[in-house]
Amino acid sequence: MRRITASLALLLATAACTNAMSEPPVSTTAPEPMVSPILTGPEALDTLTWAEPQKARVTHVALDLDLDFDAKRVGGSAVLDLLVAKGADRIVLDTNGLEVTRITDTAGRELDWALEELEEAGEKGSPLTVILDGARSIRIDYRAPQDATALQWLSPEQTAGGVHPFLFSQGQAILNRTWIPTQDSPGIRQTWEARITAPKPLDVVMSGVVQGEPEDLGNGRRAFRFVMDKPVPPYLIAIAAGDIDFRAIGPRTGVWAEPSVLPRAYAEVADTEEMVVAAEELYGEYRWGRYDMIVLPPAFPYGGMENPVMTFLTPTFIAGDRSNNGLVAHELAHSWSGNLVTNAVWGDSWLNEGVTTYFENRIVEAVYGKARAEQEAALMYANILETLGEVGDDAPGTALSTDGGYELGSAIAYDKGAFFLRTVERIVGRDRFDAWLQQWFDNHAFQPATSELFYDDMMENLVASDAEAERLMLRKWIFEPGLPGNVAKPDPAAFAAVDGAVAHYADHGMLPEAWSSWTAAEQIRFLDNLPAELTHEQLAALDAALGLSSTGNNEILFLWLEMALENRYEPAVPQAEAFLARVGRAKFVRPLFAVLWNEGEWGRAHATRIYAKTRDSYHSVTRGGVERVMSAE
Ligand code: BES
Ligand code: ZN
Repeated sequence: MRRITASLALLLATAACTNAMSEPPVSTTAPEPMVSPILTGPEALDTLTWAEPQKARVTHVALDLDLDFDAKRVGGSAVLDLLVAKGADRIVLDTNGLEVTRITDTAGRELDWALEELEEAGEKGSPLTVILDGARSIRIDYRAPQDATALQWLSPEQTAGGVHPFLFSQGQAILNRTWIPTQDSPGIRQTWEARITAPKPLDVVMSGVVQGEPEDLGNGRRAFRFVMDKPVPPYLIAIAAGDIDFRAIGPRTGVWAEPSVLPRAYAEVADTEEMVVAAEELYGEYRWGRYDMIVLPPAFPYGGMENPVMTFLTPTFIAGDRSNNGLVAHELAHSWSGNLVTNAVWGDSWLNEGVTTYFENRIVEAVYGKARAEQEAALMYANILETLGEVGDDAPGTALSTDGGYELGSAIAYDKGAFFLRTVERIVGRDRFDAWLQQWFDNHAFQPATSELFYDDMMENLVASDAEAERLMLRKWIFEPGLPGNVAKPDPAAFAAVDGAVAHYADHGMLPEAWSSWTAAEQIRFLDNLPAELTHEQLAALDAALGLSSTGNNEILFLWLEMALENRYEPAVPQAEAFLARVGRAKFVRPLFAVLWNEGEWGRAHATRIYAKTRDSYHSVTRGGVERVMSAE
């Protein structure tokens, strides 16, 4: 049974905004902003926004903000251009903790507004309703709260340089409403521009194109201007400011970092221009102009964030050998899957993350070869099986299309999502699959998407026959829990040598002599597959032979610490403490506290003591994760 076809759904959405809505605002100075359609079906209903986009939507955001590093607050104004349906008299925006002082139209006339103070608002925050009284552009004067969860203000001690403060933002999924009053829903795309002032000598970067040189304001501050002229979901508006330098990689690629970090950062991402070329060869033109990156201080709570034209990266991926630069391939791939075609609701985040993880693996294959790509795919597959083993094959959260939540880590949205596309690719053949995926990006560029739309598009534009549809098991992959039987398993040869070494260790206690010649993925595979219970003698021997506690690769150090703490290996405690003080990435921090927390009085005492020292340096995302873990009985 086919639902509404992709092209028809799109037409309807476009019709909804051209017929039912008044003309987009006409500006005499700037070209008219490009207005993206919204999706209107029930599966595209975002329950995490207060906005009612069919009645009135934001199409453009103009920010004018001062960064106050003393008060740790951002404040100024936001001018929003609106598209308003006939008969609608108000607009509803998302806010969380914002202190709004005044709302006017562009002529300076005060408008009526109400900011609901909700008791249990939580992350969704509070609706800000503005009575438009004919206005099609409104100006909001406001200040973000000191504890805005999207923003992290770092003291000089939390930076590599130790002299200047630092600021960065993280918008995904619904954090940007803590510093920008707009409709914070991934299906409501907006163009934006910003003027940002910051104290000298800090530089400011954003996920938009910088306009000229910064303007010296003569009061110890400078103003930076940015424009994003392509409509983006508002979670992709991002800012960072600090004592940072830039180094070019290729004609359209480069990297920012604190001066003392820049050489190592540059060396790690030096293949980025090649990756962009490879990505374009796979799925078509890179549409965003430049692809720059910033390597942030270690408090950044994620590995990476795909902010357009300015990917944000953790410094913890730097290993000295580019072995973790699949991260860059991943964030780059989001320039298509996620930033061009965007999940309309967060429950469909596999459309961003799963498609990206597949694309990432194709970039890795193109740039580094099949062997590395197959090893990385095999790690993903093992991750899926491990998670399904833990939660059960029929756990509803293991369907790709969910009703929210990232509870299952990366195994489902990322890895099952990637293996879905890999399976389809193997069944229909790479050429046909690649042509289909490229048309998916092209035909839905700058638009939101849902699981249903993805399914319909495959049925319409890829699947050749009923027999093929049956072989693909599309609906089973997308809407049902577990792993369908047609999954394209990884090549068992990918890790043949390592799996042999694991068996040798398990059976005879033999340590792998080839360890230092192994790839990072091989080392990870070995550590992942060691017996769960190891004696302190075994751990000491492993560490001595393999140099685990002194590895320069944080992914491997993390696995070592995790297995050592799980076995209450005391020498690992100060190592873990040093790691937890140096690294703020939630993926590393949360599980280590969880391991300690699960190790009875011994572990809980260590966890409590360490967290008291490290808590202040963590981002709210990381703190939230740790505190959930440490509140378990
Ligand atoms: N978009 C995500 C980061 C994210 C996910 C932020 C969910 C907020 C909520 C980013 O692209 C990502 O997937 N990062 C991974 C990279 C890894 C899979 C290579 C990370 O941070 O570990
Ligand atoms: Zn991602």
